[in-house]
Amino acid sequence: MTQVDITIRSARPADASAIAAVHDEAWREAYRGIIPGRELEQMVQRRGPVWWRTILDRGARIVVLEIDDSLRGYASYGRNRLAASPYLGEIFELYLAPEYQGLGFGRRLFTAARRDLDARGLKGLLVWALADNDRACGFYTRLGGIKVREMDETFGTVVRARHAFGWV
Ligand SMILES: CC(C)(COP(=O)(O)OP(=O)(O)OC[C@H]1O[C@@H](n2cnc3c(N)ncnc32)[C@H](O)[C@@H]1OP(=O)(O)O)[C@@H](O)C(=O)NCCC(=O)NCCS
Repeated sequence: MTQVDITIRSARPADASAIAAVHDEAWREAYRGIIPGRELEQMVQRRGPVWWRTILDRGARIVVLEIDDSLRGYASYGRNRLAASPYLGEIFELYLAPEYQGLGFGRRLFTAARRDLDARGLKGLLVWALADNDRACGFYTRLGGIKVREMDETFGTVVRARHAFGWV
């Protein structure tokens, strides 16, 4: 039987290139047909290794999933960007490389991020997802998230709804 090493740990600055690669692959796969091609390409290009390195150097909180020493997913999180919200914590992003989705790793990254937010005194959690991202909305609902807010986001010439899921 082959043994697979699975690790969830805090990201280090040296992970910047690997996180950028997962971000690139996961965003193209998740948002094709939802975000127009040109805007999606610009969003992916803006988030290269230098961008990730910069936020990691500044202390951004990110947990990563490593399988056999290769980085396959990440969750970034911190204080809720909305002021005056009862949800003090926010998961900003949660992405897995496509071939590692549907295997329970999303739940594990979510739980790790949530635990760290709780440990830092940031109680209550909010996550935003595009309403057309059925996979994400189904996942957050399955994890017990309740839809608590909705707003529109413009991508070039198209407007897409975003839903916020909350956990108390
Ligand atoms: C969304 C994402 C993070 C979920 O991670 P995942 O590893 O695929 O999900 P898991 O396998 O951990 O699923 C956890 C639970 O949610 C359920 N679930 C997952 N997706 C679901 C869906 N679309 N609808 C209903 N339930 C779902 C699973 O069946 C599982 O249930 P169980 O633990 O009770 O058996 C992952 O699919 C992903 O990276 N998608 C592309 C990027 C993306 O959309 N990220 C979110 C941006 S807001």
